[in-house]
Amino acid sequence: MSLVNILHMNAGDGESSYANNSLIQENGIRQAVPFLKHMIKGLANHVVFSDRFTFADLGCSSGTNTLLVASNIIDTVQEVCDENDRKVPQFQVCLNDLFGNDFNTIFKLLPDFYAKLKKEKGESFGPCFVSAVPGSFYGRIFPDQSLHLVHSANSNHWLSQVPQGLESNGSNICMARASPPDVYQAYRNQFHTDFTKFLQMRSDEVVRGGSMILTFLARGVADPSNDDCCALLELLGQSLVDMMKEVHIVFSDPNLNSDTKII
Ligand SMILES: C[S@@+](CC[C@H](N)C(=O)[O-])C[C@H]1O[C@@H](n2cnc3c(N)ncnc32)[C@H](O)[C@@H]1O
Repeated sequence: MSLVNILHMNAGDGESSYANNSLIQENGIRQAVPFLKHMIKGLANHVVFSDRFTFADLGCSSGTNTLLVASNIIDTVQEVCDENDRKVPQFQVCLNDLFGNDFNTIFKLLPDFYAKLKKEKGESFGPCFVSAVPGSFYGRIFPDQSLHLVHSANSNHWLSQVPQGLESNGSNICMARASPPDVYQAYRNQFHTDFTKFLQMRSDEVVRGGSMILTFLARGVADPSNDDCCALLELLGQSLVDMMKEVHIVFSDPNLNSDTKII
């Protein structure tokens, strides 16, 4: 089965949910606000969004971070409109993630979100229409020239597939310090292919003069084998290998009969 059909963050709002374990990502979103402001100010000068402002959050996941992004963008557009003596537009908020994403948890937060907007901004504000757009951002997910702003946080490092040519990577679960150069190259190639596709798709979907803001964690050094990048994931990989040796992890293959397990 294709990865895009099965990958998702932990659903709900329980202890191990993504919603309750995404503080680092939330910090990144908050740190990007000054850049968002700068960009939306630029948009107001170049793009006509007097009636409607449509934006998409790609890889929105589910939880408070999702609506934090929407609030930040709405607040900023309102601020820019007020500064320029313009009428605040209606907002169309398009939340995108993969098909398995827990959109229901977001929907349940919407009544409070809408009520808060009304309370803070008054009855005549907006209105704001939130909708979900399931699908992979490596394909087309919006009509031609339909978005004024694309936002994506902590998502662009997700590749569309496991890179080809990782046979020499031993028991590593990702690029590791011990990985040979061809493994680094395989990851680089996959990212290049995916990111190029991502940009091509968005170039059709964004209106002329529209903008895009992408936030993601990056290494502080160029060397991909540096501790900065690999250390944590290597520890995780090592733990998985240890658990497998102790037979705590069982990979079952649905194509085999129920008694057969691959360990
Ligand atoms: C780490 S979460 C980030 C969520 C949220 N933006 C935040 O900053 O808290 C990455 C999200 O990207 C989504 N994602 C990964 N690949 C994707 C793709 N090809 N298309 C759409 N969403 C994708 C994942 O399902 C996941 O919800």
